[in-house]
Amino acid sequence: MNILVLGSGGREHTFAWKIAQSKHCSKLFVAPGNSGTKALATNLDIGVTDFEAIKSAVITNKIDIVIVGPEDPLVQGIHDFFLNDLDLKNVAVIGPQKAAAELEGSKEFAKEFMKRHNIPTAAYQSFKKDNVEEGYKFLETLKPPYVLKADGLAAGKGVLILDNLNEAKTELKNMLVDAKFGDASTKVVIEEFLDGIELSCFVLTDGNDYKILPTAKDYKRIGEGDIGLNTGGMGAVSPVPFATEEFLNKIENRIVKPTVEGLKKDNLPYVGFIFIGLIKVGDDPKVIEYNVRMGDPETEVVLPRLKTDIVKIFKAMSNQTLSKVDIDIDNRAATTVMLVSGGYPEAYEKGKEIFGLENISESIVFHAGSKSENEKIVTSGGRVMAVTSYGNSYEEAIKKSYQSINLLCFDKMYYRKDIGFDL
Ligand code: AMP
Ligand code: GLY
Repeated sequence: MNILVLGSGGREHTFAWKIAQSKHCSKLFVAPGNSGTKALATNLDIGVTDFEAIKSAVITNKIDIVIVGPEDPLVQGIHDFFLNDLDLKNVAVIGPQKAAAELEGSKEFAKEFMKRHNIPTAAYQSFKKDNVEEGYKFLETLKPPYVLKADGLAAGKGVLILDNLNEAKTELKNMLVDAKFGDASTKVVIEEFLDGIELSCFVLTDGNDYKILPTAKDYKRIGEGDIGLNTGGMGAVSPVPFATEEFLNKIENRIVKPTVEGLKKDNLPYVGFIFIGLIKVGDDPKVIEYNVRMGDPETEVVLPRLKTDIVKIFKAMSNQTLSKVDIDIDNRAATTVMLVSGGYPEAYEKGKEIFGLENISESIVFHAGSKSENEKIVTSGGRVMAVTSYGNSYEEAIKKSYQSINLLCFDKMYYRKDIGFDL
């Protein structure tokens, strides 16, 4: 089978790494890819939302399966685009259709879905420009901190958590009236603050059945001790040590099952990954958010623990035979530490040569924001590389990642030295 992965980050390098190991994969393409995918696949210089260019590439390269890495193409309806095109309708797409992608594309849609299917989540109300005054009144009924969420996609920046009521009112006005996040904040969801520790659960579904992949925890803030600005993710650990069997059963029964059942009841076709962002409040899991794709850098610790041939899984997902596939998981822990460009997530420089990759033997380096340039590998983004290691415990794995990082360098390289600190 010929396979195309859409995306250019560490997540997509990890997909390519895993797919390249499959006996079912003949030719592998990544669009647009990075220096890491270039070593395993053919990179195609095509943007992930350029559907017409993707169509040509799929036809020219006789692609059988497309794996959609990021959310944007899904929310823009890439799966529907394939289904509605005579030349593409038999190509399998891993990722939900547009209607179900609204679980990530609209916070309000996701909250209504959870309410309808009794899935535990924070209490909420949503507001628009014309009822901003009601929004202020609703804020007055809540205790701090106040959680404001832009309804639409805002590149991971649309959630504000504020300690002060006046500040919350000002930000609500900024979002609704002054379009702080553009169209994404035409609506704002105001939520009850949930206090607890976060983890993520990853589910595969063919629309009928589901399989649960290992849990992971990511570290989103730039600073050690989880302080400072939010990033795409600075590291991750799998499995999550506090996710006991009892807690995992609660996640499956109270959240995963009703989610997959809810999709069916609501007639929302879904072939793809469901990434459920959870928070453990007391002993109970509650949903913070849905994403309709895998997480990054969670993929860099979850897929290395998957022993089953991933292409076999994708085929079963697209044939609605997922229930017949056994998912085999490596018992070892996996951890990853993200190397980022100095200054990230604010302004940073690009084009810095990366040294030492040839010395790494105890870890797997997944490339993210890096590209090949005249035989060199240079930085091209904020999150540059994810250094993943296995261990008998997450402590052992993390130690290996840090030892490998000591062999790597580029100008102004930064990483968090405390991944896993809170476990
Ligand atoms: P989201 O984009 O919905 O995942 O939100 C981004 C981050 O904000 C989450 O990872 C949480 O750390 C935090 N967050 C979101 N909603 C809540 C909530 N209701 N209570 C506490 N923290 C939240
Ligand atoms: N690591 C969080 C995300 O991929 O959204």
